[in-house]
Amino acid sequence: MTDARSVIARLRRGEAPGVEALRWFAEGLADGGVSDAQAGAFAMGVCLRGLTADERVALTLAMRDSGHVLAWDLDGPVVDKHSTGGVGDCTSLVLAPALAACGTYVPMISGRGLGHTGGTLDKLDAIPGYATAPDERLFRQVVAEAGCAIVGASAEIAPADKRLYAVRDVTATVESLDLICASILSKKLAAGLQALVLDVKVGSGAFLKTTDAARALARAMVDTANGAGCTTTVLMTGMDEPLAPALGNALEVDAAMRVLTGVEQGPLYDLSVALGAEVLASAGIAGGEARLVEAIASGAAAERFGRMVYGLGGPIGFVEDWRRYLPEAPVIRAVEAVEAGHVAAIDGEALGLAVVALGGGRRVETDQIDPMVGLSEVVRLGAPVEKGQPLARIHAARLSQADEAERAVRAAITLGDAPAAQKLVRERVA
Ligand code: URA
Repeated sequence: MTDARSVIARLRRGEAPGVEALRWFAEGLADGGVSDAQAGAFAMGVCLRGLTADERVALTLAMRDSGHVLAWDLDGPVVDKHSTGGVGDCTSLVLAPALAACGTYVPMISGRGLGHTGGTLDKLDAIPGYATAPDERLFRQVVAEAGCAIVGASAEIAPADKRLYAVRDVTATVESLDLICASILSKKLAAGLQALVLDVKVGSGAFLKTTDAARALARAMVDTANGAGCTTTVLMTGMDEPLAPALGNALEVDAAMRVLTGVEQGPLYDLSVALGAEVLASAGIAGGEARLVEAIASGAAAERFGRMVYGLGGPIGFVEDWRRYLPEAPVIRAVEAVEAGHVAAIDGEALGLAVVALGGGRRVETDQIDPMVGLSEVVRLGAPVEKGQPLARIHAARLSQADEAERAVRAAITLGDAPAAQKLVRERVA
């Protein structure tokens, strides 16, 4: 008979855990038969030993089947996007409503912050009243009425990922191709999608720092998802600097609202359009780029966002006056450059960790997130900087935390010669 200790012991000895044992473990994660300590040891075992392709598929499908697998009866394709995690990456907040405005339906099951990266659900928690854990009935209703709903894995949908995700976040076991693949695809496949686009990040702010590692993950996810009947492609995109100039929960909602309402464009807008066009093409909808540009420019995407927020319990006029609803930090401080130069390098992971230290992420599962803290107006790679010009603005709850964050920001941003410009979308994997 399988038990948690024997699965973990096999991983420790470097032996194959076997497909049946992985299925058993996923069920145990969902029904409480496996403890947090065992889940942590399992995650570390998988990180260190790795899984074979068959084992990875078995773990992914078992985690998908740990809860309900949704089926839809809607008048448009059901599609979604997911990223492997980055900093200043609030693309989901722009893309889900933009795709809804293009006639698709987006039942987006997202995650919380992991390690140094931000989580879509933590960002949405910054909106007063927004329910990230609605019951399945409300989730379905908002998807049907607004065209999109962004919520978390629950006791009903992908519960095994909900448990393992929280444990990985605090046990330094995020950076595993197998666990990232199983985590992302278990949620996405449980949502009953026809088409999916994945954003595999590579660079200083990503979990995967090298192109080879990102490519291997992209290949594994495309093969697993297509094998499970969901048309899936990957864009590998650069994460050598934050995507939006803001990091932190309320600050990233603000960044997304600025793009949705046409106040700002930049890399967040560009990536939203690129990923959206990719998944629309997979769903058989041509001319995706022009449709998405129009959805944002016309205000239709922002209107969908407003409907989703209201449908899930948030304020009715959020889109018209979002700043009124988002919390603001009492301490806001500019980190000024002490010399002139170009932004030569940005350590995205260090910036993400600075936001965690400010209270914008978790160090242990029980940490409460402070939605108002973070960084804004972060300079872009290659930008010329004058002496005294802000490199970023810190939003903190206390002066002492702002001091610590200032040291971290100074260490994370290197001035010197401008690096060669890099493309945002590096490769496509299909
Ligand atoms: N996003 C997820 O949902 N899971 C991971 O493991 C990484 C990013």
